[in-house]
Amino acid sequence: MATSTRRPFFCGNWKLNGTITESVALATEVRNGVATLREADVVVAPSLTAVHAVARRLEGGPVGVSGQNCFWEDKGAFTGEVSAPQLAEAGCKYVIVGHSERRQLMGELDAAVNLKARAALRAGLTPIICVGETLSERDAGETLGRVEAQLDIALLEMTADGLARSLVAYEPVWAIGTGRNATPAQAQEVHHFIRTRLAARFPDVAPAVRILYGGSVKPDNIRALMAEEDVDGGLVGGIVKEGSAS
Ligand code: PGA
Repeated sequence: MATSTRRPFFCGNWKLNGTITESVALATEVRNGVATLREADVVVAPSLTAVHAVARRLEGGPVGVSGQNCFWEDKGAFTGEVSAPQLAEAGCKYVIVGHSERRQLMGELDAAVNLKARAALRAGLTPIICVGETLSERDAGETLGRVEAQLDIALLEMTADGLARSLVAYEPVWAIGTGRNATPAQAQEVHHFIRTRLAARFPDVAPAVRILYGGSVKPDNIRALMAEEDVDGGLVGGIVKEGSAS
């Protein structure tokens, strides 16, 4: 971020937390908290049941709303899924795709992430495309190879315009919810690799794509992470407080 003109972007991923009432209350807190913040994009990703109510509360203000996942078809016999157009109708401007919890716990494959990212773009949403290695992949020296494979597949058949409307999030799986964040240097190495990889296909677009870091981002480590050249923001889960999601 250090010398770039990319606008910082922060997204709170509330995961499976919060009633509708709690989520609307938290969204109001976020809106009030960033009322004077002009130099960053701020987005919240509530649980699905709360998306519409949160979007209505935040309408017309600076805080955007994101889905946490979507299906790749727009409609049909897909019980339990939600489509990108449905999220858009509910007030979302963004959707997270390929979060590691979905990859690991729900068996989501790289190819599905690609279909979801493209469905999001079709619906006019900005996909936040997540990539990241597991601890065993890092220990085996496979970090960049794994990230490369996830990224390349996620971007299959993507156009330059599609990438220009997307964000990428690097989230090392070993750092998510563990309190153990990547060091700024570790994050920068992978962020730079991602940008280089994007530039190989879309040289005109890659310099402007915002690449977020996620995994135990906290007030005491965000500044050092953001000081790195290719770290443009954060995807933040965080501790669940009694009675609210954060
Ligand atoms: P964390 O989660 O901030 O709790 O590590 C980040 C994420 O899952 O996006």
